[in-house]
Amino acid sequence: MAFRSLLFLTVILLIHPAARSDDDLPSDAELAAFNRTSFPSDFLFGASSSAFQYEGAANVRDKIADQSNASKADEFYKLHQDDVSRIKNIGLDAFRISISWSRLIRYKNDTPVLRRRGLEYYNNLINGLLNTSDGQRRVEPFVTLFHWDTPQFLEEKYGGFLNESIVNDYVEYVNFCFKNFGDRPVYQYALAVGRFDNSSQNCPEGNSGTEPYIVAHNILRAHAAAVKLYRNNYTDSQKGKIGIVLNVDWLIPYDKNNASDRQAVDRAFAFHYGWFMQPIYNGSYPAVMREYIGDRLPKFNITESAMLNGSYDFVGLNYYTAGYAMDVECSKGPKNYYTDPCVNVTKQRNGTDIGPKSCSGWLYVYPRGIRELLLFTKNKYNNPEIYITENGFSTCNHRDINDPRRTAYHYHHLKYIKSVLPDVDRVEPAKEKNKNVKGYLLWSLLDDFEWNSGYTVEFGIIHVNYTEDSLDRKYKHSAKWYKHFLNPMLKEIGSPK
Ligand SMILES: *[C@@H]1O[C@H](CO)[C@@H](O)[C@H](O)[C@H]1NC(C)=O
Ligand SMILES: *[C@@H]1O[C@H](CO)[C@@H](O)[C@H](O)[C@H]1NC(C)=O
Ligand SMILES: *[C@@H]1O[C@H](CO)[C@@H](O)[C@H](O)[C@H]1NC(C)=O
Ligand SMILES: *[C@@H]1O[C@H](CO)[C@@H](O)[C@H](O)[C@H]1NC(C)=O
Ligand SMILES: *[C@@H]1O[C@H](CO)[C@@H](O)[C@H](O)[C@H]1NC(C)=O
Ligand SMILES: *[C@@H]1O[C@H](CO)[C@@H](O)[C@H](O)[C@H]1NC(C)=O
Ligand SMILES: *[C@@H]1O[C@H](CO)[C@@H](O)[C@H](O)[C@H]1NC(C)=O
Ligand SMILES: *[C@@H]1O[C@H](CO)[C@@H](O)[C@H](O)[C@H]1NC(C)=O
Ligand SMILES: *[C@@H]1O[C@H](CO)[C@@H](O)[C@H](O)[C@H]1NC(C)=O
Ligand SMILES: *[C@@H]1O[C@H](CO)[C@@H](O)[C@H](O)[C@H]1NC(C)=O
Ligand SMILES: *[C@@H]1O[C@H](CO)[C@@H](O)[C@H](O)[C@H]1NC(C)=O
Ligand SMILES: *[C@@H]1O[C@H](CO)[C@@H](O)[C@H](O)[C@H]1NC(C)=O
Repeated sequence: MAFRSLLFLTVILLIHPAARSDDDLPSDAELAAFNRTSFPSDFLFGASSSAFQYEGAANVRDKIADQSNASKADEFYKLHQDDVSRIKNIGLDAFRISISWSRLIRYKNDTPVLRRRGLEYYNNLINGLLNTSDGQRRVEPFVTLFHWDTPQFLEEKYGGFLNESIVNDYVEYVNFCFKNFGDRPVYQYALAVGRFDNSSQNCPEGNSGTEPYIVAHNILRAHAAAVKLYRNNYTDSQKGKIGIVLNVDWLIPYDKNNASDRQAVDRAFAFHYGWFMQPIYNGSYPAVMREYIGDRLPKFNITESAMLNGSYDFVGLNYYTAGYAMDVECSKGPKNYYTDPCVNVTKQRNGTDIGPKSCSGWLYVYPRGIRELLLFTKNKYNNPEIYITENGFSTCNHRDINDPRRTAYHYHHLKYIKSVLPDVDRVEPAKEKNKNVKGYLLWSLLDDFEWNSGYTVEFGIIHVNYTEDSLDRKYKHSAKWYKHFLNPMLKEIGSPK
């Protein structure tokens, strides 16, 4: 009896605090006690950004929640030197930027021509991060080569990634990047863009039964060709690493006792993670995708498979949220990327949310999912080197620099990441550990232009005041917390310039 109640208590102690703390705001004492010294000393901490969402001096059309556009964004193009000072003030080890293909290259009668001013801008930005004069901190640039901004010229010429002609143009573009920036570390990014559902209001065009798969197929071909070029012509001299960044949600069976729901999880996972990860891992699409999509899923030929196989030095994972997957009858209506897996992914189970809500309908907080994803990736894909390249929480109050829920979000996710890193104090089964997790870059340094949400949601640890022409920046509570986390010996947390 005594033994039984002891066991019972142990179970409560292990599970109850963890379950509670995921949703709770950590106390000041808990925040203060957690800092980077409990991570390996070479673990990189940083923040992420992207060209289109930050730079300004760009234009887009329609479909944006607040009818805004990215023509101004954060004016990072103009203000980046001050922002680099902020990055150094917080104490980041790494900062992820993306290169805008169109800012670097223009097409003159089909021939790519380097834009001097674009080149100068990215050189300044990268050199500013690396600059160590006057005792400045060196910040490692993570350079994303493609973050959703296909040149309009190629979009009009042949439909962008819908046409395999993109592969040669992409290789030409990345060759410019490798040649000009590659003497400093280079990392690559790709993400699926496609007209997933042509019955939706935002994108009523195109054939949703085939196009998402064609676009992804060409992204993968372009990725493989870029990696091949880098490895053949640049790795030896530049010693950089090249990889891919994938956006992955964690999934849980709606009913864990239902075998169909457990299979639905595997299927939904194959459709969003395996779709990209398995081709670069071993040159093939997941068998379940072939089974459910049939001939609408393109095929790689032998040469392409061989080129894809192992085409990464690391994998970047963007993790934000999780969902419940439920097996559902396959749609008798239109076949598209959403209906093909025959899975319903929801954020509620029996009326209860999977975790606290953010300002974004798709983002419910589920920190332990990051741990599951890191262990899953290790076991399924032979233990690749991993960076968390995005992880963040959205708010929508537009003025508040007091953001305890954002701080809590990063705190809990970092706790779960720490839980998979080898711990010198405790011996745990190796399958519960993943020592190949090498860094954490949160999304995002600044509030920014959030695609179809425009400026209506914020992810930044630095507030950008869009009502002021100067786009005044202010550190939020979360930035001060991150600074303390990275510099635990500091008594006073620096205030904004
Ligand atoms: C972008 O937004 C600004 C500010 O609202 C507006 O002046 C400009 O005309 C817009 N540009 C485009 C291309 O819609
Ligand atoms: C590097 O920093 C020094 C001193 O702060 C500054 O004078 C110089 O312009 C910086 N160089 C670059 C490329 O940012
Ligand atoms: C791809 O674009 C080329 C022109 O660059 C065109 O000849 C070809 O038909 C296009 N292919 C597809 C599948 O649209
Ligand atoms: C929309 O996509 C469906 C497949 O999901 C396709 O059958 C249909 O032809 C597409 N509509 C248009 C206008 O292309
Ligand atoms: C890559 O290297 C090969 C062999 O040295 C060379 O033939 C080729 O032109 C190079 N490619 C580019 C894009 O520089
Ligand atoms: C949902 O609630 C019902 C009624 O309480 C219960 O029978 C069922 O097991 C619950 N389902 C899950 C997946 O928890
Ligand atoms: C599992 O869930 C499916 C779909 O909701 C349902 O049709 C099936 O009866 C369930 N199976 C069991 C064993 O509960
Ligand atoms: C590729 O890897 C997946 C995932 O580990 C595995 O299921 C599949 O059998 C492999 N395919 C080939 C052709 O090796
Ligand atoms: C595979 O496809 C590529 C185009 O992506 C083509 O250049 C190559 O010749 C094909 N190889 C084989 C073996 O069919
Ligand atoms: C998905 O699940 C939600 C919540 O249970 C339900 O409201 C919705 O109708 C389901 N959709 C499909 C296609 O089954
Ligand atoms: C943003 O700017 C407006 C107008 O100058 C000002 O009233 C407001 O206090 C600013 N917000 C923050 C968080 O600084
Ligand atoms: C930083 O974390 C370490 C290890 O977890 C802890 O021992 C130390 O007290 C913390 N430092 C501060 C200043 O809180």
